[in-house]
Amino acid sequence: MTKITVGLLFGGKSGEHEVSLQSAASILSAIDRARYNVIPIGITKEGLWRTDPGFLEGDFREILQQGAPVFLPGESTPSGQLIQLEAAGSRGRRRTSIDVVFPVLHGPFGEDGTIQGLLDLSNIPYVGAGVLGSAVAMDKDVMKRLFQQAGLPTAPFLAFQWDHWRNRTRELEPQVAAKLGYPCFVKPANLGSSIGISQAEGAEELSEALALAGEFDEKVIVERAVDAREIEVSVLGNTDPQASLPGEIIPRSGFYDYQAKYLDDSAELVVPAPLRPDQVKRVQELALRSFQTLECQGMARVDFFLERNTEDIYVNEINTIPGFTSISMYPKLWQASGLAYSDLIDRLIQLALERHRRRQSRRIDGG
Ligand SMILES: Nc1ncnc2c1ncn2[C@@H]1O[C@H](COP(=O)(O)OP(=O)(O)O)[C@@H](O)[C@H]1O
Ligand SMILES: [Mg+2]
Repeated sequence: MTKITVGLLFGGKSGEHEVSLQSAASILSAIDRARYNVIPIGITKEGLWRTDPGFLEGDFREILQQGAPVFLPGESTPSGQLIQLEAAGSRGRRRTSIDVVFPVLHGPFGEDGTIQGLLDLSNIPYVGAGVLGSAVAMDKDVMKRLFQQAGLPTAPFLAFQWDHWRNRTRELEPQVAAKLGYPCFVKPANLGSSIGISQAEGAEELSEALALAGEFDEKVIVERAVDAREIEVSVLGNTDPQASLPGEIIPRSGFYDYQAKYLDDSAELVVPAPLRPDQVKRVQELALRSFQTLECQGMARVDFFLERNTEDIYVNEINTIPGFTSISMYPKLWQASGLAYSDLIDRLIQLALERHRRRQSRRIDGG
């Protein structure tokens, strides 16, 4: 059996650069080397691409600092599968064939459809959602509008173009108070990892929270705060996706912010979540519908709020490239559902290849 060459794409320009390094290192150590060759490709915080094809273990930062510059030419090779990574600068550029890319990039310029578009142009199969699913799942406003249209329960929210309102938050405040009330959550529409998110208890705090979110994005959303348990479900598959057992996140203090997610590890992950069978069934069903509504592919983690006093369930968001270390929620939930970490990696790569084959078989012109 010829080995499949996987380009493991990590790092990136977003605030989740560090998390990505951890996820990629976990994948590299668990991937089945009998089936896959791995070429790690790092993207620096400045957006430069680096590789070291000989790298098999060690610190991924070395690749970012000392790796050879590479780029994807963004053009299709006739075979449709093999695309060269070109070592720039040297005479007689070295071309390396890549069969499939596993992007472990979180947030903007990675999880949002931009990388996916580049890979489509280069005709390279890749793990996870395509351009459309990635882009809509990254925009909390568009995502929630699609959920609402599909009849999926979402917490009430308002979305604003920040530039339009930045000097008029006094006019904005009564709308927030009337439609959402306090406390409310204020978020940049297009980030992740809780960056730029804060809670406002009243008008004064609202203006500060808006200004903070506005530093990160042109669009800001404000959402009713839900006093809730945080439940997450992993989804895997293309046209016929499966849902894992649900897990629960228990932040030790306040909400599940960047600090709790990545810096002090203070949140507890409970797998599986202690829920009644009817609740498990409900979140799994909602997870699959959310995945399909946003036209995701391959994988996604769907996050829910289970309101404490009403037991109402709201879909909070979808992450199309969830944290992927072996102890992250997405793989942990599959492990609890009977799929080991390295088998999950294998399955995702196979799903990427399958989706690509399916797309290749379609006509693209009328001739
Ligand atoms: N409407 C809300 N009610 C209660 N808590 C919220 C609400 N929105 C966000 N949070 C808290 O903030 C965290 C991050 O918000 P989220 O919308 O998931 O953004 P991100 O994409 O950054 O993860 C959530 O995990 C939760 O702890
Ligand atoms: Mg979240």
